[in-house]
Amino acid sequence: MDRTLVICKPDAVERGLVGEIVGRLERKGLRLVAAELRTIDAATAGRHYEEHHGKPFYDRLVAFITRGPALLMVVEGPQDTWQVVRTMMGATNPNEAALGTIRGDLAIEMTENLVHGSDGPESAEREIGIFFPGR
Ligand code: RTP
Ligand code: MG
Repeated sequence: MDRTLVICKPDAVERGLVGEIVGRLERKGLRLVAAELRTIDAATAGRHYEEHHGKPFYDRLVAFITRGPALLMVVEGPQDTWQVVRTMMGATNPNEAALGTIRGDLAIEMTENLVHGSDGPESAEREIGIFFPGR
């Protein structure tokens, strides 16, 4: 099986959309193999989003992702799981995300885009190591 990291971001928890998002992943055929509701600390957010250090939206992004509990998950599927999740998430900007995707159906603002999914197989393993060390 092939696995990836998914985060229901703090806006998803605040809006009561965790069930909707997890339900979509499960109905697609992905399976939860680890999950924890946790408020991400600033240092961990910095490791997770290290590719974005120095970008104009970085401080806003870290403030957002650390502002309250997020649901951290490892999900698995038969292959290319990161890509399956990214397709289901839709484009980064919810206003450009297709209807039928999580962001396209449920979000309307760039920062508050509900969900994170690793953007490749190496990112998936790196990010699982950050949030679920040893798994
Ligand atoms: P994520 O990492 O959160 O799953 O989102 P993503 O791959 O679709 O997008 P990425 O490029 O990795 O950006 C991470 C998050 O930063 C915010 N962002 N704001 N131009 C902007 O204002 C801008 N660009 C990106 C978004 O919240 C995005 O999810
Ligand atoms: Mg990303």
